[in-house]
Amino acid sequence: MLNDISFPKELMSGFIESMPSMFFGGSDSVTFLHYDIDLPHIFHTHFGGKKQVILFENKWKRRLYCIPNATYALEDYDVLHPDIKKFPALAGVKGTEAFLEHGDTLFMPTGYWHWMKYIEGGYSLSLRAWDVSLSRKAASIYNLAIKGGLDSVLKMAFKANYARYRENLAVKRADREFASGKPA
Ligand SMILES: [Fe+2]
Repeated sequence: MLNDISFPKELMSGFIESMPSMFFGGSDSVTFLHYDIDLPHIFHTHFGGKKQVILFENKWKRRLYCIPNATYALEDYDVLHPDIKKFPALAGVKGTEAFLEHGDTLFMPTGYWHWMKYIEGGYSLSLRAWDVSLSRKAASIYNLAIKGGLDSVLKMAFKANYARYRENLAVKRADREFASGKPA
């Protein structure tokens, strides 16, 4: 199967050729809202049945109730039909919706948040590429080495207390961001 993959190098450079990833999903299965910790640009090609995708620019991170030290959001709200009374910071957050069908490729720039639902069973292939800028590469390495590692250690050490602490902090940060009208 690896031999069937070709990287669209005419479109961009920096492909991490050793790391093509495949994802499989049954109908109605959902990939929770997150952005990829290593901050790659991603070409996501879908095969099989229809797949729904919701995307957000990274600037909405706090308004999406991003969990501190993590690259995913509070899982207490429904991305498609959020309860705005309970999660007021979501009001006005602008995302993009796409539906992928067999053979479609979605490009997700570095840091883009994504939520996906397999409306019908299918599978997808992600090809990742580094951003050309050094600062983005440094952020990627920092995320992998520090953020991911620190998060695992804190989770192990403090378990439920740590989970509660950072969920509360995610809510506080979202409220503050919303109150200040950010992101502009
Ligand atoms: Fe992802």
